[in-house]
Amino acid sequence: MFLVGFMASGKSTVGPELARRLGWEFVDLDSRVEAREQKSVPEIFRDVGEPGFRLAEGNALQHLTQSLDRNSVVALGGGAFAQEKNRALLRDWPSVFLNAPVEELWRRSLADGVERPLRKNRDQFGQLHSARLPFYRQATITIETAGRDVISICSEIEGALQLPTAAEGGRQESAMSGSPKSQSGESQ
Ligand code: S3P
Repeated sequence: MFLVGFMASGKSTVGPELARRLGWEFVDLDSRVEAREQKSVPEIFRDVGEPGFRLAEGNALQHLTQSLDRNSVVALGGGAFAQEKNRALLRDWPSVFLNAPVEELWRRSLADGVERPLRKNRDQFGQLHSARLPFYRQATITIETAGRDVISICSEIEGALQLPTAAEGGRQESAMSGSPKSQSGESQ
């Protein structure tokens, strides 16, 4: 499953917790891009700009989907699902749009200490959010996250996609298959 949504929508917080509950692997696409490029996301933007970053992001996603275990939770960067080519790559995967009012996203983005090259000021942030909303809306399901904790968000995703949590046998199944997934611990 792929978590999509704007900057600070909670993809990197919900993703690891959801993966832990399901006994699945967690993958953070930005971390994959950084590992492939041997540079941080801000460094990539500084060196090759947004076009260069999108190229690296698209390549990392294509590479990832070639060998991705179905039992994986992948957090995408905020712009990835706005790219047609990337959405086409994910056509056969469930996608989850984590939605919140832009005011809350702006507040969270200032509070979480992550350096974001595409967050410039409140107006620009709002305009970019509006431009991307129609793409996020194409996700399989939409979850409203405003004022909610991670546990309740995870429960709603599991219910909507009819996924068994570890407590209901998810982890048991994984253990029986002999290859329990380890968590990568990746985050931004
Ligand atoms: C981006 C969001 C970032 C990161 C990059 C570009 C965007 O990820 O991929 O800075 O285009 O919105 P987060 O959504 O995790 O902040």
